[in-house]
Amino acid sequence: MGVAAFPAGFLWGVATSAQQIEGAVAEGGRGESIWDRYASVPGNIKDGSDPSVACDHFHRWREDVELMRELGVNAYRFSIAWPRVLPSGVGRVNAGGLDFYDALVDGLLAAGISPFVTLNHWDVPQALQDHGGWTSRAAVDAFTAYADAVSRRLGDRVRHWVTHNEPWCVAHLGYERGAHAPGHRSPGGALRVAHHLLLSHGRAVEVLRRNAPGAEAGIVLLLSPVEAATDSPADRDAAREFDGEFNRWYLDPLFGGAYPADAVADRVRRGHLDGAGLDFVFPGDMACIATPTDFLGVNYYSRAVVRAGPDGRPLQIRPVPDDQLTDMGWEAHPRGLRDILVRVRDEYAPAAIHVTENGAAFGDPPAAPAAPGPIADPRRVEFLRAHLEAARDAIAEGVPLRGYFAWSLMDNFEWGEGVARRFGLHHVDYATQQRTARASAHWYRDFIARGAIEDDAPQHHTRRRP
Ligand code: FCB
Repeated sequence: MGVAAFPAGFLWGVATSAQQIEGAVAEGGRGESIWDRYASVPGNIKDGSDPSVACDHFHRWREDVELMRELGVNAYRFSIAWPRVLPSGVGRVNAGGLDFYDALVDGLLAAGISPFVTLNHWDVPQALQDHGGWTSRAAVDAFTAYADAVSRRLGDRVRHWVTHNEPWCVAHLGYERGAHAPGHRSPGGALRVAHHLLLSHGRAVEVLRRNAPGAEAGIVLLLSPVEAATDSPADRDAAREFDGEFNRWYLDPLFGGAYPADAVADRVRRGHLDGAGLDFVFPGDMACIATPTDFLGVNYYSRAVVRAGPDGRPLQIRPVPDDQLTDMGWEAHPRGLRDILVRVRDEYAPAAIHVTENGAAFGDPPAAPAAPGPIADPRRVEFLRAHLEAARDAIAEGVPLRGYFAWSLMDNFEWGEGVARRFGLHHVDYATQQRTARASAHWYRDFIARGAIEDDAPQHHTRRRP
């Protein structure tokens, strides 16, 4: 398989996010984020680490752009730290914070790499959280003002904009399960949060269209194909319920302007919505959420296999033996990427799709002293190879896939798991901040380059059809 199977202009990228790599949390006028606060509470981060230094990318970004240039990627998905731009959440824009991204964007463009910018990759200013964060409708205006400030500064150069990363994670991990910042446990609150995220997406798209004419705007969802563990009616209904909460709660409003009726009924039945129902939905909201976008970003890590638990509640099971799971406990299931892409195309017909994240956490073999060359990571290489094959299959079936971003350029702060989980194409030694290529980095580089050779256009990042 070569990249020749991928369409012209395909974006080959790597992805990161600000909170996971930048560090320098108190420099350049940056305000506190909800993840700084959450990580400061003992017990919240499994390995006891925190994001205050992370990969020190704030100081080492030039070196990191160089890593990307060596990979031969033509796109880089990164996020802007909201509290660098609006340290107090509202009001004064910190021009110094924007200077950092201004220089990064210029550095990327000079290296032939297109910046693919995410506005909200979870690091909300703590000052906004102090006023309710995403549970408050005021966060919608705050996010819109933030989108305006960033796109006024970068809109002349950035051609791809993402409003939010994975609203399901923000709403459910952050506000229902308490497993992510801000650590709340309120199922009803999570649905309100999800609505405010979606509404602010629609508002921000309008702002981006104004400030960055001709640029493409979209949202990134974490999506999984959902399968019932058995054919029993109870397991099948549990799979339907899981799909409603995880996938359709976001896809239906974005592409159809309404929450899925069966999923709303589930939430009422489960006591997650009180008698007032969807009282956070105001006239005009749903049309704003369904504002047409230029692409959907799909983050894909695994499928969900679901059985009915007590009361029929959906419970995810591990369909393969534990020794076949990644270090996150997630099953590598490449075919699921093809399945979710085809389904999204069939049921929602987005104008275009990018795989905005895909990757796997694996530990390294014990260090071989003075072993030459890259760090061996055969399981990550196979993960990438098989998922790119699945992406190619989806394209062959007519899916308008326009880009693929490997998660991640380098190891980083993996949220509640801390730095112990390693997703990088490059290894990071946190004591020295040295980056070392893994074999997967070389494999990805060669995969991209092979396409250029096959297409007989080695100087270009764009690929022609065979
Ligand atoms: C996704 C997040 C990303 C990273 C990967 C492993 O859910 O968007 O920041 O943590 O998982």
